Amino acid sequence: MNTPPTDVSRVTCVGAGVIGGGWVAHFLARGYDVTAWDPAPDAPEKLRRLVDAAWPALTRMGLAEGASPERLRFAATLEEACAEAQFVQESAPEKLELKRGLLAELDAATPEGVIIASSTSGYPMTDMQTEAAHPERLLVGHPFNPPYLIPLVEVVGGERTDRSAVEWASRFYEAAGKSVITMERELPGFIANRLQEALWREALHMVANGEATVQEIDDSITEGPGLRWAFMGPCLTFALAGGEGGMGHMLDHFGPSLKSPWTRLEAPELDAALRDAMVAGCEEAAAGRSIADLVAERDRGVIDVLRATGRLPGEASA
Ligand SMILES: NC(=O)c1ccc[n+]([C@@H]2O[C@H](COP(=O)([O-])OP(=O)(O)OC[C@H]3O[C@@H](n4cnc5c(N)ncnc54)[C@H](O)[C@@H]3O)[C@@H](O)[C@H]2O)c1
Repeated sequence: MNTPPTDVSRVTCVGAGVIGGGWVAHFLARGYDVTAWDPAPDAPEKLRRLVDAAWPALTRMGLAEGASPERLRFAATLEEACAEAQFVQESAPEKLELKRGLLAELDAATPEGVIIASSTSGYPMTDMQTEAAHPERLLVGHPFNPPYLIPLVEVVGGERTDRSAVEWASRFYEAAGKSVITMERELPGFIANRLQEALWREALHMVANGEATVQEIDDSITEGPGLRWAFMGPCLTFALAGGEGGMGHMLDHFGPSLKSPWTRLEAPELDAALRDAMVAGCEEAAAGRSIADLVAERDRGVIDVLRATGRLPGEASA
């Protein structure tokens, strides 16, 4: 029998890089016992650094009762990590063959009925569950970086996933303090990454063609549409662009310009010149701030936005 989603107390995170480590920090802050496993020799040390760096932000957000970084254990083997898991979150590198084999291993090592979720950014579970003996308990729980601050998780099963597993996972993530979109069917890139990618492709085209700098692209979002998107999505935002006529007027007014060739949407050629231009542009935009400085700045910014819009756990808007 699987543990009810609201009674889970022990979570296992397999793969402890940027995302797996972020999940570890999130589950610790929400008061779970967390077991981690990652084959990299320096993984325990890196994970501890990530959790320590995130903890001030998590403390500002409000910790669950009994939450402590001391409740993290690093297992010596995958089997040991999964032996007593009540939920498993896989966050290994985005390589299809690796995910297929790893999910089969996790399935073999995890107690019967326990749900196993993958953090994949875009592979459909149907393509990843092919080698597992119990594909019905495998599903995608796609987070956003950093998982300890960005609430959204997109939950979706594959062709061989049980509907009840998807429902269990959605309820579990909600109990763990996440905002859940439960998708009815698989879609490459899910919802949010399809939208992000459209923007990202266009940004790369503009840099490749010398039309805008990295700084201008970033400013155009943070000083512009990004401010609205933190609390109102692109559809409702555009409905307001139609004035009192709402979305109907907006579409009648601006619909024809959809045909004008503003955007390319084809993927740009990611050659060495474009790679160099992006790296140099980001270094210039960072203006001496290290990655650790930027992570701290991002974390403060996300918390401020969540607080200002009344979405910080346990706080109402002012
Ligand atoms: N980085 C993001 O913004 C982001 C956002 C959402 C989802 N994801 C997804 O999360 C997953 C992890 O991405 P990441 O950015 O954390 O990558 P990462 O490179 O930071 O971390 C991957 C970790 O997996 C470990 N690893 C390697 N082989 C493994 C194995 N066989 N079993 C278990 N662990 C193994 C590595 O040692 C490393 O610590 C990917 O599926 C990615 O698509 C990433």
